[in-house]
Amino acid sequence: MSTFDGRVALVTGAGSGIGAAIAADLAAKGAKVVVTDIDPGAAQRMVDGITGAGGEAAAFQQDASRPEESEAAVRFAVDTFGALHHAVNNAGIGPKQAPVGEIDLADWERVIGLNLSGVLTGCATRSPSSSPRTTRRSPRS
Ligand SMILES: NC(=O)c1ccc[n+]([C@@H]2O[C@H](COP(=O)([O-])OP(=O)(O)OC[C@H]3O[C@@H](n4cnc5c(N)ncnc54)[C@H](O)[C@@H]3O)[C@@H](O)[C@H]2O)c1
Repeated sequence: MSTFDGRVALVTGAGSGIGAAIAADLAAKGAKVVVTDIDPGAAQRMVDGITGAGGEAAAFQQDASRPEESEAAVRFAVDTFGALHHAVNNAGIGPKQAPVGEIDLADWERVIGLNLSGVLTGCATRSPSSSPRTTRRSPRS
């Protein structure tokens, strides 16, 4: 019996690259995997590969930089597989390469929004009880 038998895992940005490798590995070890990606075709192809290999998976389109879509992904996991035990906030992008004085700030904000804020809101919406919730400000802030 594998450590992941009967467990449900959600992996963001799992349509390709590092996330796809993590999703395939978790499925091979017995987890039911929610494959999320901003590209729904990539997510579905990944799911087809996992199910074709005898695993269990479901695709969900999600922009991991958007908190409301993180909540929707958690709801999808719970609705589809009955729980959420593991979350891998993997989705990440790199900035356009440019000399520091020529960096496009809108592009920079996009990278920060996904690679940093997306991880924060992803963690916040994936509480141990798997109940979707939003990031709350402390009463003093
Ligand atoms: N620091 C390092 O050593 C190192 C090494 C490898 C990769 N990386 C970085 O890790 C990141 C991922 O690498 P990869 O090779 O897996 O890339 P990849 O492009 O193969 O995969 C990224 C996946 O994330 C998805 N995605 C993009 N934006 C998204 C969003 N807003 N919400 C949800 N999904 C989104 C893409 O559709 C794609 O399927 C990249 O930013 C890369 O630069 C860093």
